[in-house]
This record gives sequence, C-alpha cells and structure tokens, in this order.
Amino acid sequence: MESFFSCCEVKNLSVDDVSEMMRIEQRAYAFPWTENVLKDCLQGAYLCRGLMLKGVLCAYAILSVAVGECHVLNICVSPDVQGQGVASDFLRKLLDEAVEWNAEIAFLEVRESNVAALALYSKLGFSEIGRRKAYYRNGDSREDALVLSLPLV
Ligand SMILES: CC(C)(COP(=O)(O)OP(=O)(O)OC[C@H]1O[C@@H](n2cnc3c(N)ncnc32)[C@H](O)[C@@H]1OP(=O)(O)O)[C@@H](O)C(=O)NCCC(=O)NCCS
Repeated sequence: MESFFSCCEVKNLSVDDVSEMMRIEQRAYAFPWTENVLKDCLQGAYLCRGLMLKGVLCAYAILSVAVGECHVLNICVSPDVQGQGVASDFLRKLLDEAVEWNAEIAFLEVRESNVAALALYSKLGFSEIGRRKAYYRNGDSREDALVLSLPLV
C-alpha cells in the first residue's frame, strides 16, 4: 500500500500559508507558537516546508541550516493524519535536504513529556546529548527540554 507521504507534495511555505499553519499549530500543541513567530520564520532564512495533500496543508516543518549544522525548530503534523508515518518520512526528506546544504549534524530541543516526538526522533536515530532546565512554559510551572542530536554524514 502507498504511504500517506508518497501521496503528498512538498512545497516551500510563505507568509501566505501562515493561517493554515496556525490552524494546525493550535490544534496540535498545548503551547502553540504565535502567528508572529511563524511569520518571522517564514520571512527569515529558514527552510520552511509544507506537506500538501490535494492542495491542503497537512504538516509543516521549519529548519535552520548554517555552518554545517541543521536545527529542527518545528515539525507539526495535523492531528487528523498523525500516526501514519507522515513525520518520519517528511523529516527524513528534510534532513536529506539539509545535507545537500552541507549540514553534518542535526540538533533539536523537545519537551521531555512529548512522548510522540521522542518516539519519532528515536526512530530516526537521534540521541540525547543534554538537557535545558526549565526551558519551556508548562502552565504555571516550567518543563525541561531534552537536547537531541543526529550525525548526518
Ligand atoms: C510528534 C509528531 C510530529 C509525530 O508525527 P506523526 O506523523 O504522528 O509521526 P509518525 O507517524 O511518523 O510516528 C513516528 C514514530 O513515533 C511513534 N508515535 C507517534 N505518535 C505517538 C504517540 N502519541 N505515542 C507514542 N508513540 C508515537 C510512532 O509509533 C512511530 O514509531 P513506529 O514507526 O516505530 O511505530 C506529531 O505527533 C505532532 O505533530 N505533534 C505535535 C507537534 C509536536 O510535538 N512536534 C514536535 C516538537 S519537538
């Protein structure tokens, strides 16, 4: 059977896509980014890629690639299509693209409570290299970020 990802198209995102991104962001995260943060990324020097199924955005990712390093800043899959390998296939493709831009290693931060994201990153071969104490807001308290990395070459 064809994978969900193979039925999709990858496109470069622009500020015109921010409303559609926000609709997914707000449903997928307990603590979503603001529209302004997304807009800043879309206008900056980042890889901002969307995954389209029949013209509808179903996932997006924002990566920064510079001086041999790739930083995965956001990857978000619409709750309607989670659990079908979308993020795995999409992130693999984007890390391949980062290698074409001379990235040798990828880094990211993830909430230690984000079981789905940790499963995704572990599946792709990321491993924990550190912890940022109280990095994320979590209601009235704070939550640690785990710092993960993956050699790309
Ligand atoms: C994290 C996220 C991107 C995963 O997207 P996805 O398309 O559902 O992921 P995949 O289907 O490719 O799954 C990847 C692996 O994670 C596992 N996984 C996915 N969701 C899971 C969950 N809720 N609990 C446990 N494992 C989970 C899958 O089983 C799969 O492993 P397997 O192939 O060995 O079974 C998605 O849940 C999401 O968008 N969450 C909100 C945004 C977010 O947290 N982004 C990451 C920020 S660091």
